[in-house]
Amino acid sequence: MSDIKAFNQAANDCTDGEHQVQLALLEKLCVALETGADAANTSQLLNALIDYSEAHFMSEELLMRMKSYDDYEDHQDDHVHMLEVLRDLKAQLDSDPPTLLASQARAMLGFISQHIATRDKRLADHVRQGL
Ligand SMILES: [Fe+2]
Repeated sequence: MSDIKAFNQAANDCTDGEHQVQLALLEKLCVALETGADAANTSQLLNALIDYSEAHFMSEELLMRMKSYDDYEDHQDDHVHMLEVLRDLKAQLDSDPPTLLASQARAMLGFISQHIATRDKRLADHVRQGL
């Protein structure tokens, strides 16, 4: 395997692993909101999810730039939207009922899952086929 193919494979493996962590954190947040978990614990989970998502999206965006990826702007728009929703959730955490926040978190889980299955899959295919 060439160095570039090995790099591309490692990049995709790394991204897949990050998606699993991101989805697991978001699922935990959903359950915490749905079960009325301790507010400090919920807040900690949401902060970890935001921090992780910022780092993950930045690494994906760097990869897209390195690969001169043609869907960069629309893909990045999804990232911006997801971070806005997560930051809005954080701003509402102390004021809005957990059931409302739980439904927003579940909707975000659906959006991120769809993003991974479509835009991230397309990016992974592009990286895999790269030289
Ligand atoms: Fe992405």
